[in-house]
Amino acid sequence: MNRLIVVSNRLPFALDSTGEDLWTVTPAVGGLVSAIEPVLRERGGTWIGWPGTAGEIPAEPLAKATRHAGYKVVPVALSETERDEFYYGYSNQVIWPLFHDLQNFCNFDPTYWQAYKQVNDRYADAIARCAQPDDFIWVHDYHLMYVAQALREQGVSRKLSELTFFLHIPFPPYDIFSKLPQQQRLLRALLHFDLIGFQTRRDVRNFIQCVRRLMLEAKVVPRRNLQLVRFEKREIRVGHFPIGIDFDSFENGARSDTVAQRSQQLRATFPGCQLILGSDRLDYSKGIPERLRAFRTALERHPELRGRVVLIQVVVPSRVLIPRYHEFKDRIDRLVGDINGRFSTSTWLPVQYHFRSLDRDDLLAHYRGCDIAFVTPLKDGMNLVAKEYCACRIDNDGVLILSQFAGAAEQLKPGAVLVNPYDVEQLGDAILMAFRMRQAERIARMKRMRRVVREENVFWWVDSFLKAGATMAAKSARVLGHRSARIAR
Ligand code: UDP
Ligand code: G6P
Repeated sequence: MNRLIVVSNRLPFALDSTGEDLWTVTPAVGGLVSAIEPVLRERGGTWIGWPGTAGEIPAEPLAKATRHAGYKVVPVALSETERDEFYYGYSNQVIWPLFHDLQNFCNFDPTYWQAYKQVNDRYADAIARCAQPDDFIWVHDYHLMYVAQALREQGVSRKLSELTFFLHIPFPPYDIFSKLPQQQRLLRALLHFDLIGFQTRRDVRNFIQCVRRLMLEAKVVPRRNLQLVRFEKREIRVGHFPIGIDFDSFENGARSDTVAQRSQQLRATFPGCQLILGSDRLDYSKGIPERLRAFRTALERHPELRGRVVLIQVVVPSRVLIPRYHEFKDRIDRLVGDINGRFSTSTWLPVQYHFRSLDRDDLLAHYRGCDIAFVTPLKDGMNLVAKEYCACRIDNDGVLILSQFAGAAEQLKPGAVLVNPYDVEQLGDAILMAFRMRQAERIARMKRMRRVVREENVFWWVDSFLKAGATMAAKSARVLGHRSARIAR
C-alpha cells in the first residue's frame, strides 16, 4: 500500500492564541475535515495543511494537538497578509462565492490572485520536502488548485508518481465560471493534475464544458466512467466521486448511552412538539434565511403547526472576518427575532437558535432526537449534515427535507423530500408534508437513504478514488522505476 499524503488548507484542528504563550486547540469544522480525518486515522499517512493561525506556528501546542492523531501532520504557515489575501481573499471571496453560483458576492481584487499562487507555491514546497516517489499525493479543495502547476514548475513533479485532486465544492457552469478574471489560468492550473475528482456528474459536466470552451488545444475523450482530457502531451482523468461519511462511527455513536440520554432530554424539553433541525456553518450558501422565511410562512399558512413544531437552528461560526459573513449573521438574528416575536407564547418558542459549535455527542443527540432535518443550501458540493442525519437515525425514522441543489440529492433523492430552496412557499409546504407524513412512509424513505449512506461511505469513496489513481500510478511507476530515495530538488 502506497503512503497517503493528504494536502488541504484546513488541518483537523485550529490553534488560537489567547495571550502570550497561551493557545487553545479546537477541532476544525466543515465537511472536508469530518470526512478525511477518519480515513487518515485508519490508514495512517501524512496531512499537510494550515493550523488556522496567522504567523509562526507554536511548536508545543502543535505537538499536543497531533500527539494521538495516528498520522503525521506537516503544518504550513501563513502570514497575516497571506491569510487575508489567500484564505479570506481569493479562496473565500472569489472562488467560494463564484463556484456556488453567487457571482454578485465576489470581490475580484487582482492582488488576491498573486497571493493565491504564492501560497500554493508554499504548499508545493511542503509536498516536495516530504514526498517520496511512490506516495499517493492527494490535494483537496478550492484553496489549492494551483499546486500541481507549482510542483511542475519547480521540476519536482517528474520525481513523483501522480498528482491527484478532489474538489469538495461544486464546479460552476461555463456562463458563471467565465466571469472569473483568471478563468484560463485556473483551468490550465487544474489540468496539471493527473486525476481530478468532483462530487457529482453535474460538476464533471460543467468542468468538461469549460475545458471545451476555454482550452481550445485540449481534446476531450468521453468515457463512461472517467473522462479523458488530452492536454500538452498529458492525459488527465476526470470523474465524479461522491464523498461519504464514516457511517459506522455515526451509527455507533448514536447508539451510545450518552447520546441516547441527551436525545431523550432534548425531546423532553419540547413535549408534544415535532423537532426540526437545521445545522450549518455560518455561510450564505446554506440557505438559512430562506429556511427561516419558509418556517415563518408555514406557521402563517398552517396554524396546525403552531405550538406543535420547534425549529432548532445551529449556526457554527465561520469566516467571521469577512464582512459579508458578518452581515449575514445579522440577517439571521433579525429573522429569528421576528419569528419568535410574532409567534411565541408563554409555553412555546418556535425557533431555538444556537450560534456555536455543538460537541460531537450533542450533535449526534440532535440528529437522533429530531423528527425532521431541514437542509436547504442554495448550492452545496455534497452536504454531509444530510448524510450524518440518516446515519444517526438508528430507529429508521425521521424525514430529510433536502435542497435539490445539494450534491447529496443525487444519491438521496429516493428517500428525501426534495425542494427548491428559493421557493419559500414550497419549503413551507414541505414542512407540513413532513409533519403529517405517516410513520410507514417515513421508515420506507429513511431505510432507502440509510442503505446508500452506509454502502457509499467515506471508505468506499477513498477506495474508489485511490483505485482510479492507482491505475495511473501503476503506469507511471513503470516509467519512473521504484525509487524510494527521498526527493531532493
Ligand atoms: N458540524 C460540526 N459541529 C457542529 C455542526 C456541524 O462539526 O456543531 C460538522 C458536521 O458534522 C459536518 C460538517 O460540520 O460534518 C458540515 O459539513 P457539510 O458538508 O454539511 O458542510 P460544510 O460546512 O463543509 O460546507
Ligand atoms: C467547506 C470547504 C472546506 C472547508 C470548510 C470549512 O467544507 O469545502 O475546504 O475547510 O468548508 O471552512 P473553513 O474556511 O473554516 O476551512
